[in-house]
Amino acid sequence: MPINARFAENLDELDSPKLQKAIALFADRLEDEAGKANTAEEQEKFFSELFDTQEGIFWSLYSKVLAKAGRVTWADYGIRQFLRAPAKRFLQLGSLSDNPSRYFHPIQRYMETLIANSTDVGKFTLARALWESRAEGIKSAIGDYWLKNAKPEAKREVGQLYNELTKHLEDLLKQRFGVIESGGEALARESVDLSLPGLLRLVGSRHLIRQVFQEIEDIFFSIGFSVVEGPEIETPYYNFEALNIPEFHPVREDMDTFYLELPPSRDKKTAPTPLLLRTHTSPMQIRTMEKQKPPVRVIVPGKVYRRDNPDATHSFAFHQIEGLAVDTDITFCDFTGTIEYFVQQFFGPSVKTRFRPSYFPFTEPSVEFDVSCPFCGGTGTAAGGGACSKCKGAAWIELFGAGMVDPAVYGFVNYDAKKVSGFAFGIGIDRLAMLKYGIDDIQIFFQNDVRFLKQFP
Ligand code: DAH
Repeated sequence: MPINARFAENLDELDSPKLQKAIALFADRLEDEAGKANTAEEQEKFFSELFDTQEGIFWSLYSKVLAKAGRVTWADYGIRQFLRAPAKRFLQLGSLSDNPSRYFHPIQRYMETLIANSTDVGKFTLARALWESRAEGIKSAIGDYWLKNAKPEAKREVGQLYNELTKHLEDLLKQRFGVIESGGEALARESVDLSLPGLLRLVGSRHLIRQVFQEIEDIFFSIGFSVVEGPEIETPYYNFEALNIPEFHPVREDMDTFYLELPPSRDKKTAPTPLLLRTHTSPMQIRTMEKQKPPVRVIVPGKVYRRDNPDATHSFAFHQIEGLAVDTDITFCDFTGTIEYFVQQFFGPSVKTRFRPSYFPFTEPSVEFDVSCPFCGGTGTAAGGGACSKCKGAAWIELFGAGMVDPAVYGFVNYDAKKVSGFAFGIGIDRLAMLKYGIDDIQIFFQNDVRFLKQFP
């Protein structure tokens, strides 16, 4: 009578409604099997196969049923089916002569384990319902199937066993509830072992570009500059015209750039203002001076965009810090002094600066600032001999453009060019970061490769 293994195996594949049906069919079959157990030994065998031990079919089926049911009700119903089969055969028909406690023991063991394993309120509630739910619990099932159906001579003994089991399990449930309520188990489980190594949580770090922004901002903070930020989408007026770059001026060629295709304005009468991604942070010079009277001392960190093909030193998006100082008595000396101070703070006190004449439409005179190569000490020669790889033997490295603000620019912002003077500069951050940290490919800033990012915690 192998009523167990084959059947239990097949259950794994069933979904829960089908499983429910299968359990009912199986319970019917159990009755047949029980009917074949005529001798006391066969009955014993039937019982131990059905209820005994954790390998017993009652256990394996019940756990499967419970896992599939997701809730207790119809799973309990399945259990009642198992209780019904032996009851019909051995109690109702009164054929079993000896020792009804053999039916109670497996149930008792089963419930004891379930209660002991109830480590939280959810599991406990489930275990308690399985025992004492009136419609579907084991307790009422035993009452219905076993007690009521026991033959008259066995009734007393079955009743007594029933009461003992009930009392025993109810005591256990009460005890268990006490433990759960006092949180004793949870406390024991949650107590901290201070000797264990801690959990290391990775916190990430700011991108190197952000760090360099911060370094530069700190230097300019220390000499009285403040930070302003502006839009990355600009009008040609701010990006070009107000910076003294009229339409068709040849320097626009350099900045051949990204214009935005806009939907037509709602009234369709006016053409939409053309907009573009700013090609430099210089438009914020204009926006700042429009908003405030001199003195002005600001730096403008931000992203800028140009139609450059990506290579080791070019990217269509990169970063700049613009600087602007305007006041009534700013001289070229203030200008070079400020730049020198910045460069020495950034690269170290031993570097020297120099400037060369250059051209920008919004500065006059315009210069290009160089720094003496911080890597070869401005000698052009590498430590081991040969040309320094950083400055290519030139001893100087080109840093950024700058100049005294062109008086024409003041005209656009209603400053009196006769009274004020000032200087401006535009620093390429990516280039500076590459120089300072020995990075030879600008693209790596945009690739989010953690192996790179991790080197700058
Ligand atoms: N806007 C220039 C560029 O992106 C850089 C620049 C040069 C800015 C000179 C300035 C300046 O403020 O004075 O190429």
